[in-house]
Amino acid sequence: MTHSEAEQRIAALRREIRHHDHLYYSKDRPEISDAEYDRLFRELVELETVYPDLITSDSPTQRVGAPPIDELTKVPHEKPMLSLDSITDREDVLAFATRMKRELETDHIVYTAEPKFDGLSVELVYDQGTFVRGATRGDGRTGEDVTVNLRTIRALPLQLHHNQIPPSHLVVRGEVYMRLDEFQALNRRMTERGEEAFANPRNAAAGSLRMLDSRITASRPLTVTCYDIMAVSGTFPSTHWDELEALAAWGLPVPAHRRRCHSIEEVLSFHEATDAMRETLPFEIDGIVVKVDRRDWQDQLGSKSRSPRWAIAYKFVPRKEITVIQDIVVSVGRTGTLTPLALLKPVEVGGVTISRATLHNADEVARKDVRVGDTVKVERAGDVIPAIAERVPVPGEQRQEPFVMPDHCPVCGSAVAREGAYFYCTGQTVCVAQLKGAIEHFASKSALDIDGMGKKTVAQLVDRGLVRDLADLYHLTKEQLLTLEGFADRSATLLLESIERSKSVSLDRLLMGLGIRQVGQHIARVLAKQFGTLPRLMAATEEEFLQVREIGPEISASLASFFSEDRNRQVIARLVERGLSIAPPPAEATTGSQSLAGKTFVFTGGLAGYSRNQAKELVEQHGGQVSSSVSKKTSYVVAGTDPGSKLDQAQKLGVRILTEGEFTDLVKPE
Ligand code: IVH
Repeated sequence: MTHSEAEQRIAALRREIRHHDHLYYSKDRPEISDAEYDRLFRELVELETVYPDLITSDSPTQRVGAPPIDELTKVPHEKPMLSLDSITDREDVLAFATRMKRELETDHIVYTAEPKFDGLSVELVYDQGTFVRGATRGDGRTGEDVTVNLRTIRALPLQLHHNQIPPSHLVVRGEVYMRLDEFQALNRRMTERGEEAFANPRNAAAGSLRMLDSRITASRPLTVTCYDIMAVSGTFPSTHWDELEALAAWGLPVPAHRRRCHSIEEVLSFHEATDAMRETLPFEIDGIVVKVDRRDWQDQLGSKSRSPRWAIAYKFVPRKEITVIQDIVVSVGRTGTLTPLALLKPVEVGGVTISRATLHNADEVARKDVRVGDTVKVERAGDVIPAIAERVPVPGEQRQEPFVMPDHCPVCGSAVAREGAYFYCTGQTVCVAQLKGAIEHFASKSALDIDGMGKKTVAQLVDRGLVRDLADLYHLTKEQLLTLEGFADRSATLLLESIERSKSVSLDRLLMGLGIRQVGQHIARVLAKQFGTLPRLMAATEEEFLQVREIGPEISASLASFFSEDRNRQVIARLVERGLSIAPPPAEATTGSQSLAGKTFVFTGGLAGYSRNQAKELVEQHGGQVSSSVSKKTSYVVAGTDPGSKLDQAQKLGVRILTEGEFTDLVKPE
């Protein structure tokens, strides 16, 4: 393939991928399978690897995030980003309509009504049809530049559609949010890694978008919808409805559920219909937004200091009910965090019976001033875990003493320490609650990957005193397992086998599994790569950790404190004593033969038996190398299904081409 052929193919692939992104994310109507999409994407990645000079910032491959930055820079908005007045009563909507009629001196006003998305507002700037800048709302005049983070959102087109000539300059306002299912899955992943879960999808979206490391944003399932043109070169569409249509024609996602209402009664019925379908929507909305449709009328009505006069947020009545706090207990999480929980007289809120609500932390309990016996309003306002909205004072009530955090852990009795608003048990693995969490984490997929070591098994092992620290896992016997509920001969054998298998582990997985605060999968890999072996890592000082790229003061402090604890060093020593063999990180693996020393491999197309990474590891284990582009020096090109242009290149250069079967023969253990 010549350079100019590659250029054409790259352009065609980008067009096609953008088209499918649009169908998938904006229209919810995909036309090709995920596998087909992946193939297009892979071909583009491959071509861009061979021709890096053809990479442009708007390429779909550039959504992976960029290296972290120190802080988000402030940017002034082109136009102030106003807020909306909100109302919850029908009477207020009617009053709004009356006001509009009076000010516009007309009896007939058309409104556009659309959902009010519960996310965070962003400004998106397109120049010559290319996404160039994006910012959070901030204080309405100045926001934070989150361009690189926004780029990672697949629903956000990096290029506007060209069939509808895009304006030379366009500023759009939209809402970044997270779907409920994605939010729940994210929280599960975070909890598994020992990180604090987000309280609701809005917090998750805001936290993810405002990351200093956009590679983290890229791994978060954010999406976006657009609902306002803030500025545009040329003429403005004449109504809000046409504005949404124009945005959609340029390829931007817009609210699919919307109605052009010819009377305020129609607005009321849209509100009712939308409230009724709220539970079935895959994302959170907290009301509808009603906008005077005609743009000239919007201009005539103008704005107050914070909000336009021509629009209003008509919120849904929050799902709140009144009940009584029967008790306040404290639960201990995997990392030892103490969370106060209110036990409630069961009450139904929005179709779900609620008997407990989180009180988040001690400050929150004090701020809301809730005590045992109090009457309170509980709400499910987007939050998956119900929360206490407020206390409802009852005349003449005799209140109990204010709640105080215990100074000893309710699970293990160890001292409780405080870090800002958070209290935590210092007992670590002495604390059964933390020990269970630590073992679950240690055995999890991304750590030691011990199949069959589920929550229930861990609980039994700990409660029966069979496991008192991580190293005890490697002393378990079949007889012991057979005493547990749910275990028979076969399941016990399988579990012992997977425990045995877990003994050979790479350093990064082990580090991840130790559950060191602030050390997740990524940081574990960074550390493993940097230090190579556990003894070297354990001998490092806080300053040495701080020298490592991507490792800041908090992580360094956490590492230093973890490795300075005798108890932790002893557990690690015992793990090694019991046969844990820790391999250097995969890239430096030198196990296996050197039969492929000096050979360079290039892969193209899909392999049935291996992921690309596995194939690479195999080649490296045999002393060979993997490259992403074909040259005369390439020893073999392995062609899988639907190979890309690399195959043509190999043929042209006379490079030996292998099928997957032939490749397997080369890397098979001798
Ligand atoms: S219009 C001048 N439309 O609600 C136009 N806002 O409480 C102002 N929001 O900060 C915004 N969905 O983040 C508009 N369909 C929608 C919206 C919406 C959600 C948010 C927006 C704003 C907040 C106001």
